[in-house]
Amino acid sequence: MARIGILTGGGDCPGLNAVIRAVVRKGVNSYGHAIIGYQNGWRGVLEDETVELSTTNTSGILHRGGTILGSSRTNPFREDDGVERVKENLRTENIDALIAVGGEDTLGVANKLHADGVNVVGVPKTIDNDLNATDYTFGFNTAVQICTDAIDRLHTTAESHNRVMICEVMGRHAGWIAFYSGLAGGADAILVPEREFDVQQVCEHIRRRHKAGKTFSIVVVAEGAKAIAGTEVTKDQETDAFGHVKLGGIGVWLENEIEQRTGYETRVTILGHIQRGGTPTAFDRVLATRFGIAAIDAVEEQDYGKMVALRGTRIERVPIADGVGELKTLDPELYETAEVFFG
Ligand code: F6P
Repeated sequence: MARIGILTGGGDCPGLNAVIRAVVRKGVNSYGHAIIGYQNGWRGVLEDETVELSTTNTSGILHRGGTILGSSRTNPFREDDGVERVKENLRTENIDALIAVGGEDTLGVANKLHADGVNVVGVPKTIDNDLNATDYTFGFNTAVQICTDAIDRLHTTAESHNRVMICEVMGRHAGWIAFYSGLAGGADAILVPEREFDVQQVCEHIRRRHKAGKTFSIVVVAEGAKAIAGTEVTKDQETDAFGHVKLGGIGVWLENEIEQRTGYETRVTILGHIQRGGTPTAFDRVLATRFGIAAIDAVEEQDYGKMVALRGTRIERVPIADGVGELKTLDPELYETAEVFFG
C-alpha cells in the first residue's frame, strides 16, 4: 500500500471533482492505496494542509463543478524555502507520489519538482484548452457550451433592438473558447489573441451587414485579444505568483469604439467566471474520469514525470515537459474555416 497525494491548482474548472473521485475509486478499491488530498493547490503542500480522501467522502461529487480540495495560484518556487518545505512536508506525510491536476502553471511546478526528485504525475486541466500535448483539456467543453448558450441569448435580444452585441469570453493567450463558441453561436466576428484585429475592418463588416438588412451583429472577443498597434487591455498591472496580469476590459473598449465608429447601439456582456462555474458537461465528466484513472495507473507503474493526455480518442502518457513548454494556440487553418462567415 502506498500513500498518494493529490492537489488541484490554478483557476478551477468543471471536472476537477470527477478526477479526484476517479483517482480515489481506483486507487483505493483496485490498488489499496491511501489517497491524501492537499488543500488549495501547492499552498496545501507548502502548509501541510491535508485531508484523507475515501470512497465515502468523494461520493456524489461527479456532477459538481469546482473542486472539493480548493485551489490557489501559489507558486512554491516564489516562496522562501518553498521547494524544501514541499519536500519536507511530503516526507512527513510519507507521500510516495503526488498527482498534480492543473494547467500550465501548476504542471510547470510539477515538472520542476520532478526534476528535483519528487515523484509526480500530471493531469491537464484548463477551460482555456491551451495546454500542449493533449488534444483537449476537461473544462473547455463546458465553458464553450456556457458561452454558446449566452451567445444564443444575446442573439434574440440583439435582433429585437437592432444592436451590436459584444460577448467577452476568457482566453488569456489562446482563442479556443472564443473560436469554438463564436463558430457554434454564429458570431459575425471572432477576435482572438493569436491575431491582432483591425477595429476599422470589424466596423466595416458590421456596417455592410446592417446596410444589407440585418438587424443585429454579434462579436465574440477573447479577453486577451489585441487591436492592431494596440496593447492588451488589463484591469490593473498587479500580477499573480506566476506573473499574469488581470485581463478584462477589451469588450468595454470595443463597445465604445464600435458605437462611435458605426453609430449603431452597442452593448457588451462579459461572461467572466460564469464560464468556469457549475456542472461539467457529459464530455468533460467522461474525459476527467478517464484522466483520473490513467493518472493513478501511471502512479501504480511508477511512471513519474508524465502527464496523461487525450490523443485522438485514446488516453496516453507524455512527459509533463511536453505539455508545459509552450502554449497550444489556435490553429490558423481552423480560424480560416470561420472567416467565410465574417466577410
Ligand atoms: O486560466 C484559466 C482562466 O480562467 C483564464 O482564462 C483567465 O484569464 C484566468 O483564469 C482568470 O483567473 P482568476 O480566476 O484568477 O481571475
